[in-house]
Amino acid sequence: MSTPTIFPQPRQVEMADGRFRLDEATAIVADDRDLGELLAAYLRPATGCDLPVQAPDATDAEQVNAIILRLDGRSTADDAYDLKVSAASVDIAAPTVDGLRHGVQTLRQLLPPEIMSRDKVDGVDWEIPAVHISDAPAFGWRGLLLDVARHMFSVAEIKSFIDLMAFYKFNTLHWHLTDDQGWRIEIKKYPRLTEISAFRAETALPTNRNRFDGVAYGGFYTQDEVKDIVSYAARRGITIVPEIEMPGHAVAALSAYPHLGCRGAGYQVRRTWGIAEDIYCAGKDEVFNFLQDVLSEVLQLFPSTFVHIGGDEAPKARWKACPDCQARIRTESLADEDELQSWFVGQMDSWLTARGRRLLGWDEILEGGLAPNATVMSWRGSEGGIEAANAGHDVVMTPTTYCYLDYYQSEDRESEPPALPAYLPLEKVYQFDVVPGDIAPDKRQHILGGQGNIWTEYIPSFQHLQYMAYPRAIAIAEVLWHHPADRDYTQFRARLKRHLPYLDTLNVSYRRLDD
Ligand code: ACM
Ligand code: ZN
Repeated sequence: MSTPTIFPQPRQVEMADGRFRLDEATAIVADDRDLGELLAAYLRPATGCDLPVQAPDATDAEQVNAIILRLDGRSTADDAYDLKVSAASVDIAAPTVDGLRHGVQTLRQLLPPEIMSRDKVDGVDWEIPAVHISDAPAFGWRGLLLDVARHMFSVAEIKSFIDLMAFYKFNTLHWHLTDDQGWRIEIKKYPRLTEISAFRAETALPTNRNRFDGVAYGGFYTQDEVKDIVSYAARRGITIVPEIEMPGHAVAALSAYPHLGCRGAGYQVRRTWGIAEDIYCAGKDEVFNFLQDVLSEVLQLFPSTFVHIGGDEAPKARWKACPDCQARIRTESLADEDELQSWFVGQMDSWLTARGRRLLGWDEILEGGLAPNATVMSWRGSEGGIEAANAGHDVVMTPTTYCYLDYYQSEDRESEPPALPAYLPLEKVYQFDVVPGDIAPDKRQHILGGQGNIWTEYIPSFQHLQYMAYPRAIAIAEVLWHHPADRDYTQFRARLKRHLPYLDTLNVSYRRLDD
């Protein structure tokens, strides 16, 4: 019996003799009823079996023909699980429901790829090889960023994106909800954010940023839709971290509430990509009232401990010319505009900290001094992350060099759909070094993990999103879960080739492997 192909690769896999056969008489015996129901729902469409979900038998009698989801205290790592398949049963044990969830995803990959079908598949033996798997992740932050500001996706599509994340044991969806080109979350106190900021007049053509398509674009997620997505994700073990951008990438918001900018007028939801000079004014108190009102509603919707406040790509030209910003620099005894940005972020840091949340921001928040409780998301290479970790701050690594899944997947750009003009092949993603050597040994625990980022300037459809995300996201998942010391891309690719039928069955429009 050859070792099964599982992504991300489990820590320890020992094959045994025999096989478990799933049939109509198989029961799911679950300590966590909801997860038992989810497993039954995963297995139902393809097998046609409606497996009953039962509570464990108080007598502790040996279960036969059962899939057992058992909470036990043996392991200390929250995400760890142990999966034993014998001819009699499938026994998944973990200290937490999150651990059990990972075992359930591994179980799906132990079944034949047809298990992913949404329709009943006849003539397949639903057999699982006898095996003992002991598994736990290397990192606690295993994420993908989804930008819905540049292009948005339906609630059903986002759920489908979350489904696939769960399949690969990701646990964090960083949801980029606001930017210059659109504001995508309903905020009840500020209705103009969804009346005005959520729509742009037209969009620059992917092939020529000075020409436009002439088609109005926009939309937003209602608070009810957000709640629905957040709870859908939670049920699959995924925390959604909202990002509300400040002080930059704010033109959409300024278009609806121009008094929040330094110039006070003349803003229009952007139709082109890149960096805008117009940002929130740091001198006007109304800006902080507005942002804290917005975040108050955001906190109601997102239980996530981390809240991302952006912080990247905020040019300082407007602040230099603004009397209010300059007055703030004087009254707060700041040296310059970089320190003004630090002061801005510091306001949000203490506000979030007082509410039991933790501020997360792009690595530009290091410039001018890092706020005391801030966590840094390192994107311009790993240097910002190294600096922050060495200074004792937590870090999420997402360097462009390995993690930007909006980059081209081939050097032959003509053969690919338009993308951000840079190149990041699967092989390079698989080399992602999450904990670079220059982090002091006693600071390495500050690297919480990493994520792949999918910015959507050039990604107008869900099929296109899948094409950019997969299979590169599988390489990210593998690195964050398994963190192999020696990485052999040829082997990774060979395993991936055996695994891709799962995505084929799901009709995921992933990019095919190069020959
Ligand atoms: C970023 O890519 N501007 C964080
Ligand atoms: Zn100003």
